[in-house]
Amino acid sequence: MSILIKNGRIVTAESDYIADLFIEGQQISAIGKDLPYTADRVIDASEKLVFPGGIDPHVHLDMPFMGTSSSDDYETGTRAAMHGGTTMVIDFILQTQGDTLYNALKEWQGRSEGKAIGDYSYHMAVTDFNDEVAKEVVQFIQEEGISSFKTFMAYKGALMIDDGQMVQLMKVVKEHGGLVTVHATNGDVIDSLIAKNRADGNLSPLYHYLSQPEVTESEASARFADMLHYTGCPGYIVHMTCEGALNAVREATQRNQKVLVETCTQYLVLDASLYEKDFEGAKWVMSPPLREKKDQVALWAGINQGLIQVVGTDHCPFKWEQKLMGKDDFSKIPNGHPAIEHRIELLYSEGVRTGKISLNKFVEVSSTNAAKIFGIYPRKGTIAIGADADIVIFDPLKKHTISVDTHHMNVDYSGYEGWELTGKTETVILRGKIGIENEECLLQPGYGQFVKRGKTSLVI
Ligand code: URP
Ligand code: ZN
Ligand code: ZN
Repeated sequence: MSILIKNGRIVTAESDYIADLFIEGQQISAIGKDLPYTADRVIDASEKLVFPGGIDPHVHLDMPFMGTSSSDDYETGTRAAMHGGTTMVIDFILQTQGDTLYNALKEWQGRSEGKAIGDYSYHMAVTDFNDEVAKEVVQFIQEEGISSFKTFMAYKGALMIDDGQMVQLMKVVKEHGGLVTVHATNGDVIDSLIAKNRADGNLSPLYHYLSQPEVTESEASARFADMLHYTGCPGYIVHMTCEGALNAVREATQRNQKVLVETCTQYLVLDASLYEKDFEGAKWVMSPPLREKKDQVALWAGINQGLIQVVGTDHCPFKWEQKLMGKDDFSKIPNGHPAIEHRIELLYSEGVRTGKISLNKFVEVSSTNAAKIFGIYPRKGTIAIGADADIVIFDPLKKHTISVDTHHMNVDYSGYEGWELTGKTETVILRGKIGIENEECLLQPGYGQFVKRGKTSLVI
């Protein structure tokens, strides 16, 4: 199969020009003006943007969590992602404390194989570090193509590791060329605030927010940066929400350290006033919680200052029935919100259209930097000859409205109901095959491949 995309405005992290793009098989084989090729399919992309398929490195599909499971599985989740222009996701395998990493890997392979529509990889979450796990970490990097290891500084008793384990893990990961990623919030302080609020009868979703003040995130981010500095390990903070945490990373740069940072769309465009809507606030119960307007300002600035490299989603959807598990107690509301489908369009409409970020920056944070950081560049994350033909053709002027009635995620509400956006994903190509066209998904479950990853290629 060959595809010729004509006259599109091709945008990468570094360039912006009008040209044709020729795809043969799974890769891009030529780029240039007026390419003299015939193709099985010709797409006129005049007046459209053509950029690399989005990479969302923070999603939770079919994940057992807080007594239930996230409601999008690999099929529905990667299909919804494709509709929005995200062609690859990186999910999190969770080690069960007391069990091996390999047992967890097998479990997640069972969930994804034959189901994924888009490409995917895994981060391995180490929740219980010991000498045996250290050996598995090395095997994961060298044999499985899984080179990033997630840690939790919160969710004690289920996912959290202590600082001693963290430092030991960092030493092994550094020696073998991997990356440690972190959910950086102070779990002990949060647990004590949750307990106090419950004891005082403060049980609405608002108290989820009030139990995780900014200091719990800034303290943990600074502590994580210190441990990285001590061990020399490269590290990446997931879902950063606030000015205080960003300042911890900024301070680390003063000792010539680079800590990689991801924020998520919701922290850029939503704020904590949503928790004042009584139980409806459960739609936005996620950890860390939404913050203040001043934090949004800091995060947009952090992107432009190069302190934040990636915008993901932390997509972790739960249906309303699942959210109701916490109707009488905020601490039982499953944490997470649906977002995988709207990341690119929200970032374009709220970021590029409003002049907060440039078009090149948009591509950098939605695709290219994730590919570099997680060891899949330049196979993915750019438009170049030889790269996988993962392409989004995007109409920058098309207006549309987000709604539960039209989204493709397996969840019965939207955190952005009624939002009017400008700019819409029109056609999506994954490894040379048209995945989305005329708002329909043309790929079958099983087309999505597990992508083995190498070492980070972002200079830190
Ligand atoms: O609320 C969230 N973020 N749920 C998913 C688990 C995590 O902490 O990323
Ligand atoms: Zn987290
Ligand atoms: Zn997460």
